[in-house]
Amino acid sequence: MTFTLLTLFPELVEAYFATSIAAKAVERGLVGHRVVGIRDFATDRHATCDDAPYGGGAGMVLLPGPLGLALESVGASERRTVYPTPSGRPFTERYARELAKETEIVLICGRYEGIDQRIIDKYVDDEVSIGDYVLSSGELSALTIVDAVFRLIEGVISGESLREESFTDGLLEYPQYTRPEVYEGARVPEVLLSGHHAKIKEWRLRESLKKTRSYRPDLYARIESRYRDFGTD
Ligand code: ADE
Repeated sequence: MTFTLLTLFPELVEAYFATSIAAKAVERGLVGHRVVGIRDFATDRHATCDDAPYGGGAGMVLLPGPLGLALESVGASERRTVYPTPSGRPFTERYARELAKETEIVLICGRYEGIDQRIIDKYVDDEVSIGDYVLSSGELSALTIVDAVFRLIEGVISGESLREESFTDGLLEYPQYTRPEVYEGARVPEVLLSGHHAKIKEWRLRESLKKTRSYRPDLYARIESRYRDFGTD
């Protein structure tokens, strides 16, 4: 799988791929990345990449000219092209799994007030929002999508970690503890020290259910009937 990112700030994106799990995945050849500087495609001597919106209003819009050339340079028309924007459809684990099946995805990192609609009409397959808030840096939202997708790629992290995580079965993950057994007077729950696998599994499920019911009643409503006989109190 190759991630191709178009950005005004290549150094920000490169730093991600040079760090931690992403760096390991790149080193092991499990994922590839191409980082394309939109400014390299600017056509005037000031390397202008944005301008005021027609019709007035605050902020700046990325010019279609340089961005269109950058998209052409990576063959965006033949590849799944994703534009992270607060006005997109919600990004979910299910959609991440769909993207993980592609051999390459192109992500446009927007800035300011966004990008010209004609670029969206011509090149973009999916407009995706990572949440109901606005970030000033499109790099962060694009890398959020990259991070959620690449960890689903075979070999990047263990299958067991994937299976036990929040959202893989519609529940939030149970609380985790590590050494020491007593930290600042607070003890690790006894059951986790018991070595009794069935009891540990049951405790974790119960905690997951409690957490999901409290933090995400919308998710809980969907899975409640499956666990009705189990009880959470
Ligand atoms: N860019 C700025 N805010 C964003 C959001 N919430 N989701 C996706 N892209 C964004």
